[in-house]
Amino acid sequence: MRLDALKEAPYAFGSTYEREVEFDDATWRRRVVDRVPFIAEVDGVVAGTASGGDGEVNGAAAMTAMWVDPRYRRLGVGELLVKAVLEWAKGMGYGRMFLWVTDVNAAAEHLYARHGFVGTGASQEVRPGELEHEMSRTL
Ligand SMILES: CC(C)(COP(=O)(O)OP(=O)(O)OC[C@H]1O[C@@H](n2cnc3c(N)ncnc32)[C@H](O)[C@@H]1OP(=O)(O)O)[C@@H](O)C(=O)NCCC(=O)NCCS
Repeated sequence: MRLDALKEAPYAFGSTYEREVEFDDATWRRRVVDRVPFIAEVDGVVAGTASGGDGEVNGAAAMTAMWVDPRYRRLGVGELLVKAVLEWAKGMGYGRMFLWVTDVNAAAEHLYARHGFVGTGASQEVRPGELEHEMSRTL
């Protein structure tokens, strides 16, 4: 799924398909241990994913790797995934959640803004000439 996401929406992620397709099994296993992946299914078919994990700041969580299969977009799947990661983080006792969104990704930014995320003002270059900016909200 992660490789499908990187291939389908390269503009949305800091990483690339070319980088992650080289990962070995141990690396994939470590990723699902280091982060908590959520999978959305529609009628038993995998439709999207998002992950929660530790943020860079102490006591804060991070939402990463959000992707909805294009066949299931605009049906509320992304919204469910955001809610699931927020609920998980609240339950784990985190006080704030951070995420990064690329400047060209208006769809994701709308989704996050709908759920109370606002820009922190931090930004960084994700690819030459392309920025991503940080958003956060309290939990
Ligand atoms: C961004 C993404 C996860 C949204 O998933 P989704 O399942 O289509 O989102 P939802 O149906 O839950 O939409 C919820 C709200 O998000 C916003 N939204 C979603 N897609 C949008 C779009 N193309 N344009 C504008 N707003 C959009 C809207 O506010 C929408 O509510 P509405 O449909 O009532 O207007 C999906 O488009 C995707 O996977 N994109 C490629 C990967 C990506 O961008 N990942 C995020 C990395 S930070």
